[in-house]
Amino acid sequence: TRRITVRDIALAKERGEKWPMLTAYDAMTASVFDEAGIPVILVGDSAGNCHLGYETTVPVTLDQMTMLSAAVVRGTTRPLIVGDLPFGSYQEGPVQALRSATRLVKEAGVGAVKLEGGERSHAQIRLLVESGIPVMAHIGLTPQSVHAMGYRVQGRGEEAAAQLLRDAKSVQDAGAFAVVLELVPAALAAEVTRTLHIPTIGIGAGPDTDAQVLVWTDMLGLTPGRVPKFVKQYADLREVMTNAARAYADDVVAGTFPQPEHSVH
Ligand code: KIV
Ligand code: NA
Repeated sequence: TRRITVRDIALAKERGEKWPMLTAYDAMTASVFDEAGIPVILVGDSAGNCHLGYETTVPVTLDQMTMLSAAVVRGTTRPLIVGDLPFGSYQEGPVQALRSATRLVKEAGVGAVKLEGGERSHAQIRLLVESGIPVMAHIGLTPQSVHAMGYRVQGRGEEAAAQLLRDAKSVQDAGAFAVVLELVPAALAAEVTRTLHIPTIGIGAGPDTDAQVLVWTDMLGLTPGRVPKFVKQYADLREVMTNAARAYADDVVAGTFPQPEHSVH
Protein backbone atom coordinates (compact mmCIF):
# COMPACT_ATOMS: atom_id res chain seq x y z
CA THR A 1 0.00 0.00 0.00
CA ARG A 2 1.05 3.56 -0.62
CA ARG A 3 0.43 6.61 1.48
CA ILE A 4 -2.50 8.90 0.82
CA THR A 5 -1.38 12.06 -0.98
CA VAL A 6 -2.71 15.57 -1.46
CA ARG A 7 -3.88 14.37 -4.90
CA ASP A 8 -6.25 11.90 -3.21
CA ILE A 9 -7.53 14.74 -1.02
CA ALA A 10 -8.30 16.86 -4.10
CA LEU A 11 -10.15 13.93 -5.71
CA ALA A 12 -12.31 13.52 -2.59
CA LYS A 13 -13.65 17.07 -3.01
CA GLU A 14 -14.39 16.46 -6.71
CA ARG A 15 -16.35 13.35 -5.73
CA GLY A 16 -18.12 15.10 -2.85
CA GLU A 17 -16.69 12.63 -0.29
CA LYS A 18 -16.33 13.78 3.32
CA TRP A 19 -13.31 12.60 5.34
CA PRO A 20 -12.07 12.61 8.95
CA MET A 21 -8.79 13.94 10.33
CA LEU A 22 -7.46 13.33 13.85
CA THR A 23 -4.42 14.64 15.66
CA ALA A 24 -1.71 12.33 17.03
CA TYR A 25 1.59 13.03 18.79
CA ASP A 26 3.15 9.58 19.15
CA ALA A 27 3.72 6.41 17.15
CA MET A 28 1.35 4.06 19.01
CA THR A 29 -1.68 6.34 19.01
CA ALA A 30 -1.06 7.13 15.34
CA SER A 31 -0.88 3.39 14.52
CA VAL A 32 -4.33 2.92 16.08
CA PHE A 33 -5.81 5.67 13.88
CA ASP A 34 -4.05 4.19 10.82
CA GLU A 35 -5.62 0.80 11.63
CA ALA A 36 -9.01 2.52 12.03
CA GLY A 37 -8.70 3.93 8.50
CA ILE A 38 -8.21 7.62 9.32
CA PRO A 39 -6.79 9.02 6.04
CA VAL A 40 -5.09 12.16 7.35
CA ILE A 41 -3.29 12.58 10.69
CA LEU A 42 -2.27 16.03 11.93
CA VAL A 43 0.69 16.27 14.26
CA GLY A 44 -0.80 19.44 15.70
CA ASP A 45 0.98 21.93 17.90
CA SER A 46 -1.96 21.14 20.21
CA ALA A 47 0.77 18.75 21.41
CA GLY A 48 1.70 21.75 23.54
CA ASN A 49 -1.49 21.34 25.58
CA CYS A 50 -2.19 17.63 25.08
CA HIS A 51 1.23 16.04 25.18
CA LEU A 52 3.79 18.45 26.64
CA GLY A 53 1.79 20.02 29.48
CA TYR A 54 1.88 23.67 28.39
CA GLU A 55 -1.15 25.97 28.80
CA THR A 56 -1.10 27.12 25.16
CA THR A 57 0.53 26.13 21.87
CA VAL A 58 2.79 29.18 21.96
CA PRO A 59 5.86 27.61 23.68
CA VAL A 60 6.07 24.61 21.29
CA THR A 61 9.36 24.49 19.36
CA LEU A 62 10.28 23.25 15.89
CA ASP A 63 12.60 20.67 17.50
CA GLN A 64 9.63 19.27 19.44
CA MET A 65 7.36 19.22 16.38
CA THR A 66 10.10 17.47 14.39
CA MET A 67 10.49 14.76 17.02
CA LEU A 68 6.74 14.17 17.43
CA SER A 69 6.10 14.24 13.66
CA ALA A 70 8.86 11.69 13.05
CA ALA A 71 7.28 9.35 15.62
CA VAL A 72 3.86 9.61 13.95
CA VAL A 73 5.39 8.93 10.51
CA ARG A 74 7.19 5.85 11.89
CA GLY A 75 3.99 4.56 13.51
CA THR A 76 1.91 4.66 10.32
CA THR A 77 1.96 3.35 6.75
CA ARG A 78 -1.16 4.66 4.97
CA PRO A 79 -2.31 8.11 6.22
CA LEU A 80 -1.05 11.44 4.95
CA ILE A 81 0.90 12.95 7.86
CA VAL A 82 0.65 16.74 8.24
CA GLY A 83 3.17 18.45 10.54
CA ASP A 84 2.19 21.73 12.23
CA LEU A 85 4.66 24.62 12.02
CA PRO A 86 4.87 26.04 15.56
CA PHE A 87 4.69 29.69 16.60
CA GLY A 88 7.84 31.58 15.65
CA SER A 89 8.94 29.15 12.95
CA TYR A 90 7.37 30.95 9.94
CA GLN A 91 6.21 34.45 10.97
CA GLU A 92 9.53 36.10 9.99
CA GLY A 93 8.78 35.42 6.34
CA PRO A 94 8.77 32.94 3.48
CA VAL A 95 12.46 32.00 3.75
CA GLN A 96 12.16 31.14 7.45
CA ALA A 97 8.96 29.20 6.69
CA LEU A 98 10.75 27.21 3.97
CA ARG A 99 13.68 26.43 6.28
CA SER A 100 11.29 25.21 9.00
CA ALA A 101 9.03 23.22 6.68
CA THR A 102 12.08 21.61 5.09
CA ARG A 103 13.08 20.22 8.49
CA LEU A 104 9.65 18.63 8.97
CA VAL A 105 9.79 17.11 5.48
CA LYS A 106 13.41 15.90 5.54
CA GLU A 107 13.95 15.00 9.21
CA ALA A 108 10.43 13.86 10.16
CA GLY A 109 9.18 12.64 6.77
CA VAL A 110 5.81 14.44 6.76
CA GLY A 111 3.87 14.69 3.48
CA ALA A 112 2.58 18.20 4.15
CA VAL A 113 2.84 21.03 6.68
CA LYS A 114 0.23 23.29 8.26
CA LEU A 115 0.55 26.92 9.29
CA GLU A 116 -1.85 29.52 10.70
CA GLY A 117 -3.06 32.70 9.02
CA GLY A 118 -4.89 33.76 5.85
CA GLU A 119 -3.74 36.85 3.96
CA ARG A 120 -0.92 37.39 6.46
CA SER A 121 0.61 33.98 5.58
CA HIS A 122 0.04 34.18 1.79
CA ALA A 123 3.71 34.70 0.86
CA GLN A 124 4.85 31.83 3.12
CA ILE A 125 2.31 29.41 1.63
CA ARG A 126 3.26 30.44 -1.92
CA LEU A 127 7.00 29.80 -1.46
CA LEU A 128 6.47 26.43 0.25
CA VAL A 129 4.12 25.26 -2.51
CA GLU A 130 6.49 26.51 -5.24
CA SER A 131 9.24 24.55 -3.47
CA GLY A 132 7.21 21.33 -3.59
CA ILE A 133 5.87 21.24 -0.04
CA PRO A 134 2.07 20.80 0.21
CA VAL A 135 0.53 23.27 2.67
CA MET A 136 -2.63 23.02 4.75
CA ALA A 137 -3.76 26.48 5.85
CA HIS A 138 -5.62 27.31 9.08
CA ILE A 139 -7.93 30.32 9.51
CA GLY A 140 -10.68 31.46 11.88
CA LEU A 141 -9.49 30.91 15.44
CA THR A 142 -5.71 30.56 15.29
CA PRO A 143 -4.48 29.47 18.74
CA GLN A 144 -0.91 30.71 18.20
CA SER A 145 -2.41 34.24 18.34
CA VAL A 146 -4.17 33.60 21.67
CA HIS A 147 -2.51 36.60 23.31
CA ALA A 148 -3.99 38.88 20.64
CA MET A 149 -7.38 37.25 19.90
CA GLY A 150 -8.25 35.00 22.87
CA TYR A 151 -10.26 31.83 22.25
CA ARG A 152 -13.41 33.31 20.69
CA VAL A 153 -15.67 32.47 17.75
CA GLN A 154 -14.28 34.12 14.62
CA GLY A 155 -16.07 35.57 11.57
CA ARG A 156 -19.09 36.91 13.49
CA GLY A 157 -20.53 40.07 11.92
CA GLU A 158 -20.43 41.27 8.33
CA GLU A 159 -16.92 42.70 8.38
CA ALA A 160 -15.35 39.68 10.10
CA ALA A 161 -17.16 37.31 7.74
CA ALA A 162 -15.88 39.23 4.70
CA GLN A 163 -12.33 39.05 6.11
CA LEU A 164 -12.63 35.29 6.65
CA LEU A 165 -13.74 34.84 3.02
CA ARG A 166 -10.78 36.96 1.87
CA ASP A 167 -8.45 34.83 4.02
CA ALA A 168 -9.90 31.62 2.55
CA LYS A 169 -9.47 32.82 -1.04
CA SER A 170 -5.99 34.10 -0.27
CA VAL A 171 -4.69 30.73 0.98
CA GLN A 172 -6.30 28.97 -1.99
CA ASP A 173 -4.67 31.46 -4.41
CA ALA A 174 -1.32 30.90 -2.67
CA GLY A 175 -1.63 27.19 -3.46
CA ALA A 176 -2.78 25.58 -0.18
CA PHE A 177 -4.27 22.11 -0.77
CA ALA A 178 -6.78 22.40 2.11
CA VAL A 179 -7.78 24.84 4.83
CA VAL A 180 -8.78 24.32 8.46
CA LEU A 181 -11.69 26.50 9.64
CA GLU A 182 -11.61 26.71 13.45
CA LEU A 183 -14.53 28.02 15.53
CA VAL A 184 -16.43 29.72 12.70
CA PRO A 185 -20.25 30.05 12.46
CA ALA A 186 -21.68 27.06 10.55
CA ALA A 187 -23.36 29.17 7.85
CA LEU A 188 -20.11 31.02 7.10
CA ALA A 189 -18.12 27.76 7.00
CA ALA A 190 -20.70 26.41 4.52
CA GLU A 191 -20.28 29.52 2.36
CA VAL A 192 -16.47 29.20 2.40
CA THR A 193 -16.82 25.52 1.48
CA ARG A 194 -19.07 26.33 -1.51
CA THR A 195 -16.75 29.14 -2.64
CA LEU A 196 -13.43 27.25 -2.56
CA HIS A 197 -12.32 24.43 -4.83
CA ILE A 198 -9.91 23.14 -2.15
CA PRO A 199 -11.37 21.17 0.77
CA THR A 200 -12.32 22.85 4.04
CA ILE A 201 -11.65 21.00 7.31
CA GLY A 202 -13.89 22.11 10.13
CA ILE A 203 -13.38 22.13 13.88
CA GLY A 204 -16.29 23.85 15.60
CA ALA A 205 -17.41 24.96 12.14
CA GLY A 206 -20.64 23.02 11.66
CA PRO A 207 -21.61 20.08 9.44
CA ASP A 208 -21.07 21.49 5.95
CA THR A 209 -17.27 21.53 5.62
CA ASP A 210 -15.64 18.91 3.38
CA ALA A 211 -13.78 17.29 6.27
CA GLN A 212 -13.71 17.37 10.08
CA VAL A 213 -10.84 17.39 12.55
CA LEU A 214 -10.80 16.76 16.30
CA VAL A 215 -7.98 16.72 18.82
CA TRP A 216 -7.64 13.05 19.71
CA THR A 217 -7.44 13.47 23.49
CA ASP A 218 -10.71 15.48 23.38
CA MET A 219 -12.67 12.99 21.29
CA LEU A 220 -11.44 9.98 23.28
CA GLY A 221 -12.08 11.55 26.68
CA LEU A 222 -8.49 11.79 27.91
CA THR A 223 -8.37 15.60 28.20
CA PRO A 224 -8.97 16.57 31.86
CA GLY A 225 -11.78 18.99 32.73
CA ARG A 226 -14.18 20.59 30.30
CA VAL A 227 -13.79 20.15 26.54
CA PRO A 228 -15.20 22.64 24.00
CA LYS A 229 -18.89 22.36 23.06
CA PHE A 230 -18.06 21.31 19.49
CA VAL A 231 -16.30 18.12 20.64
CA LYS A 232 -18.16 14.81 20.54
CA GLN A 233 -16.66 12.40 23.05
CA TYR A 234 -16.52 8.89 21.56
CA ALA A 235 -14.93 7.19 24.58
CA ASP A 236 -13.90 7.89 28.17
CA LEU A 237 -10.25 6.87 28.19
CA ARG A 238 -9.59 8.89 31.34
CA GLU A 239 -12.02 6.70 33.26
CA VAL A 240 -10.71 3.49 31.68
CA MET A 241 -7.09 4.37 32.49
CA THR A 242 -7.82 5.67 36.00
CA ASN A 243 -9.72 2.51 36.91
CA ALA A 244 -6.97 0.30 35.47
CA ALA A 245 -4.20 2.18 37.31
CA ARG A 246 -6.17 1.96 40.58
CA ALA A 247 -6.82 -1.77 40.13
CA TYR A 248 -3.10 -2.37 39.47
CA ALA A 249 -2.12 -0.30 42.52
CA ASP A 250 -4.61 -2.18 44.71
CA ASP A 251 -3.29 -5.55 43.46
CA VAL A 252 0.32 -4.61 44.21
CA VAL A 253 -0.50 -3.30 47.69
CA ALA A 254 -2.62 -6.42 48.44
CA GLY A 255 0.00 -8.80 47.01
CA THR A 256 -2.48 -10.21 44.44
CA PHE A 257 -0.29 -9.22 41.48
CA PRO A 258 1.78 -10.90 40.17
CA GLN A 259 0.18 -14.36 40.21
CA PRO A 260 2.12 -17.54 39.31
CA GLU A 261 1.14 -17.11 35.60
CA HIS A 262 2.87 -13.71 35.54
CA SER A 263 6.09 -15.16 36.98
CA VAL A 264 9.00 -17.02 35.43
CA HIS A 265 10.02 -20.31 37.03
O1 KIV B 1 -2.88 21.77 16.60
C1 KIV B 1 -3.98 21.28 16.28
O2 KIV B 1 -4.44 20.25 16.80
C2 KIV B 1 -4.76 21.97 15.24
C3 KIV B 1 -6.12 21.45 14.92
C4 KIV B 1 -7.08 21.76 16.01
C5 KIV B 1 -6.61 21.93 13.61
O3 KIV B 1 -4.27 22.92 14.69
NA1 NA C 1 -2.34 23.71 15.57
